[in-house]
Amino acid sequence: MAEVVLAVTGGIAAYKAIDVMRILQRRGHGVSVLLSRSAERFVTRGTFSALSGRPVGTTLFPDDGQLDYDHLDFARRADIVLVCPATAHAMAEMAHGLAGGVIGTTLLAFDGPVVVAPAMNPRMLAHPATVANLATLEARGVRIVPVSEGLLADGDVGPGRLADPVDICDAVDAALAPGELAGVRVLVSAGGTQEPVDAVRFLGNRSSGKMGWALASEARRRGAVVTVLASNVALPREAGIAYVDAPTAADLHRETVARMPGTDVLVMAAAVADYRPAAAVQGKIDKSASDAMRLELEKTPDILTEVTAARRPGQVLVGFAAEHGEDGLQRAREKRARKGVDVLVHNDVSVPGIGFGSDDNAVTIIGPGDAETTVGPTSKAACAAAIVDVFAGLVTHT
Ligand code: CTP
Repeated sequence: MAEVVLAVTGGIAAYKAIDVMRILQRRGHGVSVLLSRSAERFVTRGTFSALSGRPVGTTLFPDDGQLDYDHLDFARRADIVLVCPATAHAMAEMAHGLAGGVIGTTLLAFDGPVVVAPAMNPRMLAHPATVANLATLEARGVRIVPVSEGLLADGDVGPGRLADPVDICDAVDAALAPGELAGVRVLVSAGGTQEPVDAVRFLGNRSSGKMGWALASEARRRGAVVTVLASNVALPREAGIAYVDAPTAADLHRETVARMPGTDVLVMAAAVADYRPAAAVQGKIDKSASDAMRLELEKTPDILTEVTAARRPGQVLVGFAAEHGEDGLQRAREKRARKGVDVLVHNDVSVPGIGFGSDDNAVTIIGPGDAETTVGPTSKAACAAAIVDVFAGLVTHT
């Protein structure tokens, strides 16, 4: 059974954390409790230390007597951290990585699964700041237990009540369960390469990295050991995923080839430049030098084709094809055969509102064999789940 660190922050729902702790204990988990300063106004340290039989973390400073814990003890001990209830303020602190108290310090020093059960007034929940903080946490792989709706302690009615304690404990157990990809090493390339023209300019593309990020997150959620090769992606990074920056096609080529022997599944979601300036100019090109200019380009190595040709038995390879227009799907089918990958994910970049930079996508997953699965338009997270479903099946059967 697992060691759960239960971080209680200060809302009226704090008393329900006692129920949550009891259920977790009945399920066989060890529970250590952290209380924020404002949580202590609703529930007492004595209640939690009596019921948990363990020291309760409340402060980083021994100003109220000898501390019976070190400030990193809880992070070291935890298999999982549950923040319940999580106030708007607690989530803002988490989103910004603030470590002013024992809860923030524990969360920053912990890279395992984190579950957050929010509870607050509906207007605070709907505020753009809270919405953005929740999105940041989710993008980092934090599991959010959705609030329920109803009459709140302050008389307002709407979404904001703490979820049912049993549902919260189910979310903890789900996060602890070994996923179907437990131990599988997944390498995901994400973003778009930038090829230097001179010291200030580059040739790039419109890929934001959101699809690769969603795939990495989903694979990790299912237990995979995930490394992301990031080509110029400005998105929040998730604890528990390794990130390696690979800004150019040459960097991505080198990093991918070097990592293939230790990879079980390669997901090549990055938009890789097919051509790059044959020679990047030192310094900055001066426009007064001539009225027109020619840029000589050379082909970049086709990474996917190269690693597919050198694959070892059991390795699963997933490619992407961003095609434009009507014949795109047929071109993607041909591309899959040409590249020799197990699965090729086609998306039509001519459709407005999906694809590059957007939070949504619509894809056709071609393979394995003759199988074709069409998904969306829907969120990139939902597309990622469908893509991982497909390659997870291949890993199990190889
Ligand atoms: N890819 C790659 N190395 C390259 C170019 C592309 O590994 N130098 C990968 C992409 O990451 C993607 C897949 O190959 O997974 C298909 O990319 P795409 O640009 O659509 O394919 P190309 O082979 O370049 O085909 P096209 O002739 O349509 O440009």
